Amino acid sequence: MEFSVKSGGPEKQRSACIVVGVYEGRKLTPSARQIDQISGGALTTLLRRGDHSGSLGQSLLLHRVPNVPSERVLLVGCGKDKELGDGSYRAILGHAARALGDTGATEAAVFLTDVDLRGRDLSWKLRHAVESVEEAYYRFDQLKSRKSEKRPALRRMVLMVPKRSDLAPAETALRQGVAISAGVILTKNLGNLPGNICTPSYLAEQALALQEEYGVKTTVLEEQDMRTLGMGALLSVARGSRQPPKLITVEYHGGGDAHPPVVLVGKGITFDAGGISIKPASAMDEMKYDMCGAAAVLGTIKAVAELGLPINVVGVIPSSENLPDGNASKPGDIVTSMSGQTIEVLNTDAEGRLILCDALTFTERFNPSVVVDLATLTGACIVALGRHASGLLGNNEPLARALIGAGRYAFDRAWQLPLWDDYQRQLDSNFADMANIGGHDAGTITAACFLARYTKKFKWAHLDIAGTAWKTGKDKGATGRPVPLLTTFLIELSERRGQPDA
Ligand code: BES
Ligand code: MN
Ligand code: ZN
Repeated sequence: MEFSVKSGGPEKQRSACIVVGVYEGRKLTPSARQIDQISGGALTTLLRRGDHSGSLGQSLLLHRVPNVPSERVLLVGCGKDKELGDGSYRAILGHAARALGDTGATEAAVFLTDVDLRGRDLSWKLRHAVESVEEAYYRFDQLKSRKSEKRPALRRMVLMVPKRSDLAPAETALRQGVAISAGVILTKNLGNLPGNICTPSYLAEQALALQEEYGVKTTVLEEQDMRTLGMGALLSVARGSRQPPKLITVEYHGGGDAHPPVVLVGKGITFDAGGISIKPASAMDEMKYDMCGAAAVLGTIKAVAELGLPINVVGVIPSSENLPDGNASKPGDIVTSMSGQTIEVLNTDAEGRLILCDALTFTERFNPSVVVDLATLTGACIVALGRHASGLLGNNEPLARALIGAGRYAFDRAWQLPLWDDYQRQLDSNFADMANIGGHDAGTITAACFLARYTKKFKWAHLDIAGTAWKTGKDKGATGRPVPLLTTFLIELSERRGQPDA
């Protein structure tokens, strides 16, 4: 979709379709009121007749509205004006996009940025309008031989703002929405690809493609390099797989050489069968999504590169499959991580922390300002938070708060769990420095406790995206989260050009 912004009222627009909102209780948005006035009460008449209730998601397409120069007017229900929140605003835009897609219009002028959303300014509404429309039109049909659904005719969307002086901030917000959407789409596409296509080597190729497109510096370390670095934990996970593991680094250099980078570390298990501690069969296909952390690192770097943010960002992706095999790690095996700490692998299905701990030690070489890892790490996180919030834990409060704030603005929310030392005891091992599992209680926290042992040298936060990275059930598919959260965090950081606590 091609987006642009323009100022002006609906009375002058010559568009294939103008889109305006109506609330429940026959209440009109400012732009709907203008149309009503010039048309001699066309909208109030049809509301009175009960042709549109204003309920959220209901839409009505009108042709030849008197004195309106546009060919069509699409009325979109906004629900009760008092109940309008961030999520319902995004839903309204999604409904509008789908309704527009059912028309023959190739272009539309959208006035929904004038709905009344307390606490959100025009920039917020523009950014989220773009993201919601892109979300509504996203399809993953590259592996279907017949692309059944008909594609919407709509090509161009003009987002209308009230005043000329609104145009400059509106352009910025639009650019951000477009960049975040591009990152989200890349992340969704990678996530939705099956394990037989999206292997560690495939992820490495995608990282190299980013190098081609944006001039980032991509490096791919092979099994032999990992052996040289002493990454015994990462290598132990890859033992059961015929696909070679990869350690991928992508360096985006937008800031000065003296600026320490933000390092993003993403779990890249391209299929998690559990290893010898094999998972039950039901829904095991969804473990193709166990590389969504890695995909979100690439998606965020894409968004940052699209925006040309004046900061340095490094993505680090440890990638492997986790499969059972005669050569696979066994429960009880003890491995030595790059940090020198030894780990008793009591459950081969707790593999994410094993690849992440070596990747986290590896990040020390970048002298990071902060490190954020993203991982579909624990089923326990879905038990704790459901599928609305990512779990957030870390060793630095200002960083945690900055991420929570960014997530709120991005409508890609995270919720903090405690990382108290009291939980560390659950990782005690009789035979090694630690076990890789912490028992039944507080599975998300003990997983983060494990990672905390590898992140003492820098400010660090961990996002457990097990519940948020993809949707299950009939809408099964990757969400692209937490690309909006991370990109927002990095935009805010670049505006302050410094530390998250500066
Ligand atoms: N990738 C899984 C976590 C997961 C499971 C995410 C289901 C989303 C849905 C991870 O590797 C895993 O298997 N974790 C185990 C840890 C346990 C063995 C301590 C889990 O959550 O069961
Ligand atoms: Mn697992
Ligand atoms: Zn996993």
